[in-house]
Amino acid sequence: MHTIISLGIETSCDETSVAFVTDQKEILSHTVFSQKDHEAFGGVVPELAARSHLQNLEQIFKETQKKTGLSVQDVSVIAATCGPGLIGGVIVGSSFAKGLAYYHNKPFIPVNHLEAHALTVRLTEKVEFPYLLLLVSGGHCQLVCARDLGQYSVLGSTKDDAVGETFDKVAKLLGLGYPGGPAIEKAACQGEAQRFSFPRPFYGQAHCSFSFSGLKTAVRYEMQKNVDPSAQDICDCAASFQKAVSETLVDRVQQAMQQVPSVKKLVVAGGVGANQQIRTQLQKLCVEKSWAFYAPPNHLCTDNGAMVAWTGLEYFIKGKGSDLNFAPRPRWPLSELG
Ligand code: KG4
Ligand code: ZN
Repeated sequence: MHTIISLGIETSCDETSVAFVTDQKEILSHTVFSQKDHEAFGGVVPELAARSHLQNLEQIFKETQKKTGLSVQDVSVIAATCGPGLIGGVIVGSSFAKGLAYYHNKPFIPVNHLEAHALTVRLTEKVEFPYLLLLVSGGHCQLVCARDLGQYSVLGSTKDDAVGETFDKVAKLLGLGYPGGPAIEKAACQGEAQRFSFPRPFYGQAHCSFSFSGLKTAVRYEMQKNVDPSAQDICDCAASFQKAVSETLVDRVQQAMQQVPSVKKLVVAGGVGANQQIRTQLQKLCVEKSWAFYAPPNHLCTDNGAMVAWTGLEYFIKGKGSDLNFAPRPRWPLSELG
């Protein structure tokens, strides 16, 4: 049987990533280059990110392709993230992909970055629609009912900061560096999570919205009380913060489960989904509620080209045609797909 191969390109934030994925769910070759340019700033600088994608994408593409032993002619479909994201980077990646598609006469599929996160588990496991999705990344925090390809009902999202953004800001406050999520997780392992009592925003409230700015401020106030924190103080604070976030997420998911009780499947996606404590607590909730729980492997939770290639492949198989005229979108909510 003829294997369908998809090429995916991701450049919407600070990862330049290229992947070749088959309809047999095989990742033939995959490169994720995480830009280091932003560490000194404690967050992603859009202009630097776009320049870095521009500088590195061609080389990353060539190296990734070389590892497959295939030519672009062997590829059936070319996909790139076209939004939402930092528009400079999105334009770099999508224009590069469109150029390849035009030159090699291949279909080009514009991919929504959020949908790519949402579909990642379908690349790594067999998960049928519908499912409840907790999408937790640097730019987004939402609970979504994924009904079909292109069909998503957003049950709730954050009123202020995204959860990954909160990890990054709190890490900066604690002097733990960027990206904040993995740094906080590491520090939290050495910390006492009962030491500080931080708020769990919206806890117990019967809706699916999130809010994290108050939690971030609570950490700031706590740190201001201590002018010379010890390494142990920092670790205790990281552990207490991580516990507050994971209990908040579990509570919000529980509310969402009540809104779609027949779905019985929970999927976590996005960079924060790589957090072990959060995964464990969500898994525990699912066992209690008799729901199935799915999470992509850690390296596919954070931004990557494989999820983009896979999303392009799903659309291609469903019969979607080439769309070289698609204009990249800095904002592109899941509700505006389909
Ligand atoms: O999905 P992603 O790579 O990019 C966006 O689409 O935003 O998510 C990046 C975010 C960052 O805020 C990062 O701090 C967070 O995911 N993150 C984590 C962990 N790994 C990455 N947060 C908590 N724990 C982690 N282990
Ligand atoms: Zn992402």
